[in-house]
Amino acid sequence: MNNNQKKQWFKEAVVYQVYPKSFQDTNGDGMGDLRGVISRLDYLKELGIDVIWLNPCYKNSGVDGGYDISDYRAIAPELGTMADFDELLKEAHKRSIRIVMDLVVNHTSTEHAWFLESRSSKDNPKRDFYIWRKPYEGGVPNGERSVFSGPAWEYDETTGEYYLHMFAREQADLNWENEEVRREVYDMMHWWFKKGIDGFRMDVIDMIGKPPEMLLCDGGPHRPSSCGPREHEFLREMNREVLSHYDIMTVGETGSVTVESALDYANLDGSELSMVFQFEHVEHDAGVDTKWSTGPMNLVKLKKIFERWETGLHGRAWNSLYWSNHDQPRAVSHFGCDREPYRALSAKMVGACLHMMEGTPYIYQGEELGMTNYPFTEVSESKDVEVHNGWQELVVECKRFTPEEMMACIRYKGRDNARTPMQWTAGRNAGFSEAEPWMPVHPNHAYINAESQINDPDSVFSFYKRLIQLRKTHPVIVHGDFTLLAKEDEQVFAYTRSYEGKTLLVACNFSCEDAKLEEAAQTCGEMLIGNYKEPGEKDMLRPWEVRVTLV
Ligand code: GLC
Ligand code: CA
Repeated sequence: MNNNQKKQWFKEAVVYQVYPKSFQDTNGDGMGDLRGVISRLDYLKELGIDVIWLNPCYKNSGVDGGYDISDYRAIAPELGTMADFDELLKEAHKRSIRIVMDLVVNHTSTEHAWFLESRSSKDNPKRDFYIWRKPYEGGVPNGERSVFSGPAWEYDETTGEYYLHMFAREQADLNWENEEVRREVYDMMHWWFKKGIDGFRMDVIDMIGKPPEMLLCDGGPHRPSSCGPREHEFLREMNREVLSHYDIMTVGETGSVTVESALDYANLDGSELSMVFQFEHVEHDAGVDTKWSTGPMNLVKLKKIFERWETGLHGRAWNSLYWSNHDQPRAVSHFGCDREPYRALSAKMVGACLHMMEGTPYIYQGEELGMTNYPFTEVSESKDVEVHNGWQELVVECKRFTPEEMMACIRYKGRDNARTPMQWTAGRNAGFSEAEPWMPVHPNHAYINAESQINDPDSVFSFYKRLIQLRKTHPVIVHGDFTLLAKEDEQVFAYTRSYEGKTLLVACNFSCEDAKLEEAAQTCGEMLIGNYKEPGEKDMLRPWEVRVTLV
């Protein structure tokens, strides 16, 4: 076993994602800040998590929720100071909570000093830090599309060329083929590790190795933009040069990853990353050619996706487990039922269904309270560049959706659902801020809030707390292999996990009706956790019921 294989605390860990802007405001400007995160560390300790993944808190240009960084070594003034960050790190470590930062190195803001130099002239030493192309027949070099709608090429008058931006036009893609770019990134990573951070979540990291075809100046069509020939070479270099020097964890955001490529990205030999985020389960109900859709979710399809990932990676690579994050709708609204009387029941069920699988679970802030999607009625209520660009393209330009249809998609899939303020109390602004919050507070904070749940043994919060404790108590939850039961059942998601003579049985009802259980999925052994008080029938699950047993 090499050094990397020993460093595997991340397998036993539970990660909690904090979107700092929406977590807790402490200086009364309506926006969450780093001191707010410090003030809630005891809450997170009570929940029992091991690691915080902090969304970007670097200086940025305010276009894409902090993913448009203008200085990698400075804290965004709206979130605090470097002294606040240092204190957060110290206070978290005091409580044995690790801090993982976001690493956004596929692109920088167009306000970053490198880009300002790069755009200034064709012979500037930083010209090649970004991807510049000549016009093709007087227009864009080719038909490459931005993830946020529209062309991925932006014309820059100073030098009469186009630069590539796979996201907003204010986010210019770095040129990873340039060794000096890689050197700068690695130096910056060392700088943060030397401060004592415990890892990185790597933003769209499968896009750094660009397939050369997508960059041709040939007027060609939109071509795949991820996982080019040097992708794994770059990550292995980063691992050798930086990651392998520290006892840290990494998770790559890889929208294009397959079970097969995950065996490289997340191999247990530790040669690249600790794990990656795959997207198949959260996108299983996406529209045909864009993310926008209104569902419905398809349980049989969903189960097959998990089965492939669980069995495909077992013993060879490591899975991450998530239902939600700052780019996804709320877990209970997407996969459970956020209407009463099922909200809390189904929030617990989806939590247990995920946390009992093999992989490192991620909890997105508010998920542990069963927070729900927000009832958006007007596109103007949205702060998200993806929503506004999508509206422009799909409603205004190509009239693919009527405004009503697109609003329904936004309510179902829009990223702002996850970005409304954390609901701490039933009081004014949900205890998030003294001032008018930068995003509206969900009216349901009157009954969905942390204060009312922390001491209630039946709350979603207490249930999540128990899920985390179970992981620390039963090695089968960390290490067991996975077998899917009742594969074609449209209501029931049931599976077993086995390890060293123990078998965990997890049976979940993803519907508002009773569900019959096939014999293999029927409860036997010790009940570890469930979401109904009264014991039910052995061969039947009640609406949104989950039962986890151990023999
Ligand atoms: C990732 C982030 C998302 C951001 C995008 C561009 O997908 O999670 O929030 O908009 O990258 O950086
Ligand atoms: Ca603030």
